[in-house]
Amino acid sequence: MRTCLVTGANSGIGRETARGLARLGHRVVLACRNPQRGEAARRDVAATTGNPAVELMIVDLSRQASIRDFARAFLDSHPELHVLVNNAGIWANRRRESPEGIEQTWATNVLGYFLLTELLLDRLRESAPARIVNVASQLARDLDLEDVEFRRRSYSGVSAYAQSKQADRMLTWALARRLEGTAVTANAMHPGGVNTPLFSKGGGLLAMAASAFSKMAGKTPEEGADTVVWLATSPDVEGQSGTFWIDRHAVPCRFHDPAAEERLWTLCASMTRAA
Ligand SMILES: NC(=O)c1ccc[n+]([C@@H]2O[C@H](COP(=O)([O-])OP(=O)(O)OC[C@H]3O[C@@H](n4cnc5c(N)ncnc54)[C@H](OP(=O)(O)O)[C@@H]3O)[C@@H](O)[C@H]2O)c1
Repeated sequence: MRTCLVTGANSGIGRETARGLARLGHRVVLACRNPQRGEAARRDVAATTGNPAVELMIVDLSRQASIRDFARAFLDSHPELHVLVNNAGIWANRRRESPEGIEQTWATNVLGYFLLTELLLDRLRESAPARIVNVASQLARDLDLEDVEFRRRSYSGVSAYAQSKQADRMLTWALARRLEGTAVTANAMHPGGVNTPLFSKGGGLLAMAASAFSKMAGKTPEEGADTVVWLATSPDVEGQSGTFWIDRHAVPCRFHDPAAEERLWTLCASMTRAA
């Protein structure tokens, strides 16, 4: 039985990813911030798949102290990790800071992926073959390495979200380079426009419009999770790494720039004091 960890697994794409992995018979750990929502999802995934090996662990991915506590607890209780799906994300109409004083979208969508992966990487290597799937987005742009927290730029929810998703892709390429020659792969993907509460939770007019559009024309969360589950498990992508995927197809990414990726990596390492 392979062990899979899915962040933000109580809602939307994460929940359907957890369900898809559980349906395939894997042990699935749901990493969620809210115990009630997390437990409801755990029960739902276990009941609908008939897989009793569905666990809940609590983590606030916008707080590095919480990520470190979570990683310690996970490593103590799970001798193996074969699949890490970094999925938890937010859209925030207004600039807010995490309890540790970092702009919330960057803290969650970028440093949350980065630090969790860093802390679990040795376990993934020991468990190889193993796979990392980063849920990114087609909405990606505006990364300003001099001002990732919008301290100088005026804040825009779209730009904060889009730069975080650009960073998710670039960090995936930098990670894939570091993993060359190992049996651990790292890929990034876009799930499509999916009908989830992501935008409505973030507030603001644009988010309301995006939410209304995704309700009318979006994919279901299950459809959004399809490529994630496929990347996490399919023999079709065995050994494939450092690639951007949409609807099970490899697509070119316009953010391939090793020098910028390395600058971003160094910045994230210094913001998390990770290796
Ligand atoms: N929906 C789309 O059209 C779309 C398109 C492209 C990419 N994506 C990406 O897909 C991923 C999943 O989003 P979704 O659409 O499925 O939205 P969603 O239903 O709102 O799911 C987001 C998940 O992340 C969790 N989360 C947020 N902040 C967290 C934190 N600090 N600590 C732990 N968990 C946290 C949420 O928990 P709560 O339930 O407690 O808030 C929720 O479980 C995101 O990375 C998003 O950027 C979505």
